[in-house]
Amino acid sequence: MKEKTKIAVFASGNGSNFEAIAQACAQGRLEAEVVLCVCDHPGAYVTLRAKRLNITVLELKPKDFISKKEYEEEILQQLHKLNVQLICLAGYMRIIGPTLLSPYEGRILNIHPSLLPAFPGVDAIGQALNYGVKVFGVTVHFVDSTLDGGKIIAQAAIPYEGNDRGEIEEMIHAQEHALYINAINRVIGNGHC
Ligand code: GRF
Repeated sequence: MKEKTKIAVFASGNGSNFEAIAQACAQGRLEAEVVLCVCDHPGAYVTLRAKRLNITVLELKPKDFISKKEYEEEILQQLHKLNVQLICLAGYMRIIGPTLLSPYEGRILNIHPSLLPAFPGVDAIGQALNYGVKVFGVTVHFVDSTLDGGKIIAQAAIPYEGNDRGEIEEMIHAQEHALYINAINRVIGNGHC
């Protein structure tokens, strides 16, 4: 039997996607295991979720390191120690640097709340609202050295004609979890990791 893929989820805040991925693993909907939660905001809600689920948490303050390279080297050490094969970014508010990107090339995924390539970067939902779009969406993509520009794995379109931020945020978040799980399944199934 194929061994379960070991996943690390990187998150900075709430962590609903982290929890959805961890639950999907626990319930056998993903042939994978979340072995680590990496958080750059010690005490963020995602760390409580991880502790509740008995998942190891690595809480680091980037400011405590002299450079991004050192910060990422510390993370890399933990990833290697736990044999992490796949990294899933889920609301991780940092650009991944070459220290992590190079050893995990093609094995880092991200979820972004827009139909990429439209509205990369911060506050994608706000950008889309300002633009007056009528079809919002969510994208799961591979991470490369560009800003939200890696190859797309899965997308969901969300038609919405209103301009209520709370309402569209809710609609987007409602799609994210299933889409992310579906995308991870595809990547694992394709033998990427
Ligand atoms: C999601 O909207 C995701 O698309 C974006 O950050 C948000 C994270 O939400 N990258 P949560 O922390 O998983 O609840």
